[in-house]
Amino acid sequence: MNKLAVAILTALAAASAVAASDGRDDLTEEDRARVAKVTAPTRDFSAPESFETLPAGAGTTRKMINADIFSHPSANLTFEGRQEFLVGNGLFRKDWVSSPSSTQASDGLGPLFNARSCQACHTKDGRGTVPGFDPLERSDTVALLLRLSVPATTDEQRQQLASGHLPFVPEPVYGVQLQNFSVAGLPSEGSLEIEYEPVTVQLNGGETATLMKPTYRIENLGYGPMRKDVQISPRIAQPMIGLGLLEAIHPADILANAAADHGDGISGRPNWTRDRRTGERVLGRFNWKASQPTVEQQSAAAFSNDMGLSTPLFPSHYGECTKAQSACFDMPHGAQPHLGEHEVPAELMDFVTTYSVNLAVPQRRDVDDARVLAGKKLFYEANCVACHVPKYVTRRDAAREEHRFQLIWPYTDMLLHDMGEGLADQVSEDEASGSEWRTPPLWGIGLTRTVNPNATWLHDGRARSLLEAVLWHGGEAQAARDRVVAMTPEERADLIRFLESL
Ligand code: HEC
Ligand code: HEC
Repeated sequence: MNKLAVAILTALAAASAVAASDGRDDLTEEDRARVAKVTAPTRDFSAPESFETLPAGAGTTRKMINADIFSHPSANLTFEGRQEFLVGNGLFRKDWVSSPSSTQASDGLGPLFNARSCQACHTKDGRGTVPGFDPLERSDTVALLLRLSVPATTDEQRQQLASGHLPFVPEPVYGVQLQNFSVAGLPSEGSLEIEYEPVTVQLNGGETATLMKPTYRIENLGYGPMRKDVQISPRIAQPMIGLGLLEAIHPADILANAAADHGDGISGRPNWTRDRRTGERVLGRFNWKASQPTVEQQSAAAFSNDMGLSTPLFPSHYGECTKAQSACFDMPHGAQPHLGEHEVPAELMDFVTTYSVNLAVPQRRDVDDARVLAGKKLFYEANCVACHVPKYVTRRDAAREEHRFQLIWPYTDMLLHDMGEGLADQVSEDEASGSEWRTPPLWGIGLTRTVNPNATWLHDGRARSLLEAVLWHGGEAQAARDRVVAMTPEERADLIRFLESL
């Protein structure tokens, strides 16, 4: 091992000993010592680590690997939990329809919307599909959303941004997100056009890679011009696995990683965001910019922004209609007095949440393969682990029993990093700047295409392979990316093999 690698591994061992022991008010002294021991980064790459095949602890699914592999419940879910999961599954898959309709329990879609079901974007509980790289073969997919924001112009907006009551200032007419569909009789907001420019990257050993650099444009605007200074942030639907376990990581462990020195000038920052249930400002965890604190709140936001359906947390029946879109409020909505106040009443919302926090992470494959182990060593040596932090032990006091005190391997620090100009979209969200992204978990990433053969990687799906995803890394991750470029072709292949085994 070279000197740099040894230095990185030593620094990591020190940092993670802190991460596991400070501030864990859910653990006894004895537990803390045990947790620090099992979560310390390995220095032995000659064999797999204990429990490495089970990335989600007792919740890991060992079901057969096929296109359904992201759709199984946590293996340790109770019988009642499984019943709720099944109902939630039905709601995640079902197509909602506009009101009025004869199927009263399924209506209320829109007036503006991006898709009719959760599953339309989260393909088989995995990632969504981008409309395609070839302009001649572009599909009409819906899974790439466009967030819209404008710079603050009033003191009120500036105050709301500063106090965290507004994550960003929405476009005054079009709102926080472009909805490309609408109910009959109402114009949709517009459509997204993408152009890709190929950029060649030279790699050590005579290899090359071609990255696809996107530019985005909005066309067919349905409600007049947008503000000239509008900033847009395209986001692809993320995989749904392991989310309850990510929610059960103790904030002290996440904040310890923000404080630790990881080398390479890497310093993750937490995002702070508003919890709608408590009104408090809490650690953000979900979405590409860690802008939502809980799976429940993100799921309710999806019902509202993506489908135009009201829930207890987002009570407007008109979803994302803005005041400037008055015709939107003349459309019928789907709330039924005999079914409750909201189009998606609390009981149904709870089923969807139970489902969304319990999609299981699949078992690892080939952990003892010599090439995979060599790739794992390279992953540590290249300092990918500074952000893609391998292991945690979840809280003993997590809200749901199945998520408590599990040794998990998500490969994320849940923190924001400046990833450089190449990936920046200039849209800030709560504390996250336009160039900052949350480190995405890598568990299950090797099965991405087993679940959705057309899936691609990164926040806007621009990377057509795992290698391309790594080559887009810049900013704080520039040094790690440069080490991959400098690897021999065999080493790069091993690194990718390791990722594919996750
Ligand atoms: C129109 C496409 C679309 C639909 C429909 C949709 N989602 Fe999503 N989902 C996304 C996108 C895009 C993101 C990432 C958003 C971001 O980064 O701001 C996301 C993120 C999420 C996340 C966070 C995942 C993570 O790893 O942080 C959850 C949970 C989620 N969606 C649940 C749901 C549920 C439940 C539904 C149905 C009620 C739903 N989504 C419907 C596109 C969609
Ligand atoms: C400074 C922190 C940092 C370092 C170091 C880093 N990553 Fe990442 N990684 C990220 C962030 C943040 C993203 C998401 C960027 C985006 O979507 O625009 C990401 C995305 C990825 C993705 C795509 C994930 C997805 O869901 O689409 C892969 C694969 C990946 N990283 C692998 C690696 C490897 C391999 C290394 C080491 C060579 C590495 N990363 C080093 C922060 C980091």
